[in-house]
Parts: sequence; C-alpha cells; structure tokens
Amino acid sequence: MSFGLTVLGSINLDLIVQLPDLPKAGETVTGGTYTALPGGKGANVAVAARRLGAETEIVAVVGNDDYAAQALVNLDAEGVYLDAVKTVKTHTGLAFISVSAQGENQIAVASGANAAFTPEHLPKLCSDVLITQFEIPVAVIEAALDGYEGYVVVNASPVRDDVDAILKRADLIIVNEGEAARYDLSTHKGLIAVTLGSRGAELRQDGQVITTAKSPNVDVIDTTGAGDAFAAALTVALAEGQSKQDALDFACAVGALTTTRLGTQTASPTRAEVDTFLNR
Ligand code: RIB
Repeated sequence: MSFGLTVLGSINLDLIVQLPDLPKAGETVTGGTYTALPGGKGANVAVAARRLGAETEIVAVVGNDDYAAQALVNLDAEGVYLDAVKTVKTHTGLAFISVSAQGENQIAVASGANAAFTPEHLPKLCSDVLITQFEIPVAVIEAALDGYEGYVVVNASPVRDDVDAILKRADLIIVNEGEAARYDLSTHKGLIAVTLGSRGAELRQDGQVITTAKSPNVDVIDTTGAGDAFAAALTVALAEGQSKQDALDFACAVGALTTTRLGTQTASPTRAEVDTFLNR
C-alpha cells in the first residue's frame, strides 16, 4: 500500500565525540574522536522512513549558514522532498553529542533555526500521515494540525509540559519509558507505543497492553537516534497495513539495527536490510 508521509520537525547537524566514558558534571574527558553527521529528530525520522520505502516530505527550517548544507545532505541523497524546508537568519540547529564506549549518549542542543520556526513557514499539508516530535515550537505543531485530516503520529520527545492539545489529537503517541512517566496518558483514546530500550517495546490501547515485542540482540555502537528510527518504522509499518504485532516487531528490529552503527541517519537500515534481518 502506498501512502504519503509528512515529517514536521527539526533538522540539526550532530557534532559527535566518541569517548571511553561520558563526562560527569564539571568533569573534562579527553581523548575523544570527532565526527559531524546530519541529525535532528525530524530529519532522522524522514531519512529512516524513506529508507524503509515511504514517499516522504520534511517540513522544517534551517539556518543561513554553512551547516545547513551538511545537515540536509542525507535527506537530499535519500530523495526526501525538501520543497517545504525554509531558511531563516540564524544558525542551523546544532546537537553536541557525547557517545561512550558502551553506546550511551548525552545530547545538548542549540536549537537555532528550529526555535525560529513559525506557523508562517508552514505549507498546506495534505498527506495521508503526519509525524512530529517536540524539537520545534508547539505553536507550529498546533497550527499544522489545525484542519489536518490525515493520521497523526506524535513522538513526544523531548518531554514538554504544554502539549496536551497535541497529544489529544494524536492517533499514535510514541514515548520511551522515561517519557511515558512524565505525561498523563491514562485517558488517551488512541494507540500508545512505549519503547523499553534493549527490552523491546509495547503497544497500549485504552490503558491495556495489547502487544509486546522483544528487541533483537545486537552489538551496540551508538544508541543515538534509535528512538527516531523506531518511530519512523512503526509509522511506516502501520500505514502499510501491517498487523500491530508485525509492525512492532519491525520497529524493534529497525531500532536495534540503528544502534549497530555510529550516528542516526547514517545508521538507519534500508528496507532490504530489515527484511533480511527479519527473514521476511
Ligand atoms: O534523537 C537523536 C537526535 O536528537 C540527534 O540527531 C540530535 O540532533 C538530537 O536532536
């Protein structure tokens, strides 16, 4: 089944340092290895969805600097539609990411252009499915959802406290365990996916767990972006009409495969890789 996906979200350039251990507050850790890679939760979802076969556009904002081209390179190469990416007079979003030898991360974001995104930058949205996250202003998401008729997926990350109306409109909410504890989702009518790290994920509806899936065992290099890839995969699989169990298994496999390589978009698996991995 073919469908059109709009990703409404952030674009960042990720400035990554791989270290034996993550620094504690006030500590300096030397001896790191530096890499700059395209990132941002919105862009990561767009690339992941495109690699899984979805016709995808991204609605986003970048800065008027040299970082913008670097941040857009994967989106462009993968064939994500970029007509709705606008440029504003500030720096492109930058994420400063430390990754430990165990694959854990710490992320500090200078939002730049993502914070300068306004409802005036939005085009008319008429796709079948829209997925968004909380790295752009709430007013932009609310304006985009006003009158939008398609299926709405909200990856409620990072946690914000002014998003009740957006969560209420969501057909599918995706959160990790920590995020789930920070929102009151007890009365949510739609589907909720909760990721459980290396333990897998579960789908809830009307307060009940209706499906669970285990995460496959893999050699972890970098967990950054695994949640974004999971969100993209679950959205694609459900939009394709896969059963809830198959969709959750598929998303857990995509999330796990993403952790086996450094970075986010560059680590995101292709459809063929996932199908081979799942023996489908
Ligand atoms: O979810 C991972 C992403 O969070 C990174 O790519 C970084 O840009 C931050 O937005």
